[in-house]
Amino acid sequence: MLIEHLNHRLRERDGQALRRQRRTTESPCGPHQRVSGRDMLAFCSNDYLGLANHPALIEALGEGARLHGAGSGASHLISGHSHAHALLEDELARWMSPSIPGARVLSFCTGYMANLALLTALGDASATIFADKLNHASLVDGALLAKAPLQRYPHGRLDLLAQQLGRCSTPIKLIVSDAVFSMDGDLADLPALLALAEAHDAWLVVDDAHGFGVLGEGGRGSLSHFGLRSERLICMGTLGKAAGLGGAFVAAHPSIIEWLVQSARSYIYTTAAPPAIAHALCASLRLIGSDEGEQRRARLRQLIELLRDRLNALMQQHPGLGWRLADSTTAIQPLIVGDNAAALALSAALDAQGLWVPAIRPPTVPAGTARLRITLSAAHTPEDVQTLVDGLARAAASLR
Ligand SMILES: Cc1ncc(COP(=O)(O)O)c(C=O)c1O
Repeated sequence: MLIEHLNHRLRERDGQALRRQRRTTESPCGPHQRVSGRDMLAFCSNDYLGLANHPALIEALGEGARLHGAGSGASHLISGHSHAHALLEDELARWMSPSIPGARVLSFCTGYMANLALLTALGDASATIFADKLNHASLVDGALLAKAPLQRYPHGRLDLLAQQLGRCSTPIKLIVSDAVFSMDGDLADLPALLALAEAHDAWLVVDDAHGFGVLGEGGRGSLSHFGLRSERLICMGTLGKAAGLGGAFVAAHPSIIEWLVQSARSYIYTTAAPPAIAHALCASLRLIGSDEGEQRRARLRQLIELLRDRLNALMQQHPGLGWRLADSTTAIQPLIVGDNAAALALSAALDAQGLWVPAIRPPTVPAGTARLRITLSAAHTPEDVQTLVDGLARAAASLR
């Protein structure tokens, strides 16, 4: 019965063009990748600075393994917390303390686990969680698992958030937002969110998965980008995107971090990440903060501008395409197509030309807003960007 039920549901997904497929890569992450025996030009990773295959990080990973072994062997609270994890947390605390004075940092295996930890540990029955409707799934899941009631506000509608906060009577209020929205690329108005937090005695939880390493002074992220500084800030950053490796961290007031250590189940009941990763992450932080990191960010900004200029020109030449380029200044440049099947067809037409740009469909994005999620990396070249734009022009012609 179970298998029939699941097969029925899978067929339903096929009928709605919602079945997802994995692809197996046969070369390291980068713009030019071998995928299922074909050479592809990829615009889909979150490796914004092009560090995932950087020789210094590969070397640091090997060095970390030689120093600390291959695995951690246990959870952090048993025996898996190594010197490498401690050094990484100390370094990240130094990075984040200009934005969160006196911050302490806790490292996690993944951003998903960090968000579950944060929202379940802080969102007890004395709290209310206020969340932007376009927040990442990990924040949504964390809020659903938490005991605190959840109030969602339409994307970016801080006027409605203010009303919700005004009506709230719980002693603890947590405003939760992506800093860079993962499927739209737009930035949350963090200064206005922090002002609301201050006015309503609330805390602001910022998910900086797509800002850390890319935005702000020395790549310190979205809080630095906006020049924010407050003890009311709680920041989650991921380390598998711009930082090129994997893992995540939470930076916050020391008492918040201590409470996570004591009570967050997705921190406590899981094996600590291999210490070699923490060791290599320290090398990644040095790279992100170096002149090379600065150059990579500058190159990424140029590529973003180039892509937007060329795509806008293409859409002006062909006004009937029905595509819309999202209003984003970040490395996430979604091309909104609307219909699920149309987004899949466009992605397939690019694929036929050796271009890898995934179609993103509901439930990851709202119904009727299926899109190509184009992401850029400092490892792309201007020629790569032109190849993509030419490919889109050809795809549009073939689908008409
Ligand atoms: C906004 C956002 N938060 C959290 C995550 C989860 O991070 P991780 O991939 O490290 O689990 C992601 C992406 O994966 C994300 O886009």
